[in-house]
Amino acid sequence: MYDPAQLRSIHLSRFGDEPAIFAAPGRVNIIGEHTDYAEGFVMPAAIDFATLAAISPRADGKVVLYSENYAEQREFEASSLPAERSGHWTDYPLGVLAVLAGEGHTIPSFSLSLWGDVPLGSGLSSSAAIEVATALAVTALIDVGYPRPVLARLCQRSENEFVGSSCGIMDQFISANAAENNALLLDCRDLTFRLAPIPASVALVIANTMVQHAITGGEYTSRRAQVEEAAAVIARHRPEVRFLRDATLDDLERYGSEMSPLALKRARHVITENTRTVAAAEALIHHDLKELGRLMAEAHVSYSQDFEASCEEADAMVELAQDLPGLIGARLTGGGFGGCTVNLVEQQHAREFAAALGQRYAARTGIIPQIHICHASGGANRVQESIQAVT
Ligand code: GLA
Repeated sequence: MYDPAQLRSIHLSRFGDEPAIFAAPGRVNIIGEHTDYAEGFVMPAAIDFATLAAISPRADGKVVLYSENYAEQREFEASSLPAERSGHWTDYPLGVLAVLAGEGHTIPSFSLSLWGDVPLGSGLSSSAAIEVATALAVTALIDVGYPRPVLARLCQRSENEFVGSSCGIMDQFISANAAENNALLLDCRDLTFRLAPIPASVALVIANTMVQHAITGGEYTSRRAQVEEAAAVIARHRPEVRFLRDATLDDLERYGSEMSPLALKRARHVITENTRTVAAAEALIHHDLKELGRLMAEAHVSYSQDFEASCEEADAMVELAQDLPGLIGARLTGGGFGGCTVNLVEQQHAREFAAALGQRYAARTGIIPQIHICHASGGANRVQESIQAVT
């Protein structure tokens, strides 16, 4: 796990200045996949992995970005920051700066040290964690306090407009707004949310297939285009349907023949997933874990078969969990095409569950997975250990 005190001393010895330190968590999505950009519902929780951002002001007009993960430092002029991505890790913090500049803020001179332990490319939102940690650090430095939903939207825009991935709002939103021991049912239309407490008797077991996923890649983007194609076809008949959030299975019956067969399948996933997600939140809130597990299983099948966003390894990881003691529900989480499965497991069985799943998966695929027993953590914040305000 990350260590703010260690980042503080790294930053101090590198830059000679006392930093303020902020942390932003990664996330696991319990249910509601590829529904966020269709203005639908998602139910993620933040996890115990996070990115830390240590920041201190400078007086030389430079923005200096250091990553402890990459052991690399890059310098820029605060007055002429890059306007375009370069494919480098600095795109994530620079994207946030570009959006803040676009909002009319003057970007000051500062040193920023980043250090994270969210596994990269695993569908656990390492990029959102970097964006939110950076945004919190920089807005604190310039003494601007955005409401958290607005901060999340700015971070999403930095990813859409600068990094070049067409992601929705889910990852940045949960990183910025999570509440410890809760999942959050988010309405991606108006960003209102409801907390769904995760009982202490339930563990979040995250099983990494070790198959890398990339949301800047073509599959995520093509799925989004198919979802939008389906919505556009329905809108020709029902102009009030701007997003699949507003569509029903009945619309697919009526107008599905006007869509490409793939758009029809993708739409069926999104429409049914929205219903499942709201039902899953109800189930969690009312302690109906059996129903929650059933909905997660159904969601995985829909994600795998209609949305075709799973892969052999993720299907295996879900299948191999089914008869293990303590399993409540399992499914592939995140953008798809690899990454992690989320398993809700009775706490008392979590360790044995993780060990047995790891063994089974290794025997089936020849890949040693990483399996983490997590709890739902709190959202991004200034870390206690930070010593002084920077302003
Ligand atoms: C990625 C994106 C999110 C969301 C999920 C799929 O994590 O960043 O916005 O679309 O995929 O649910």
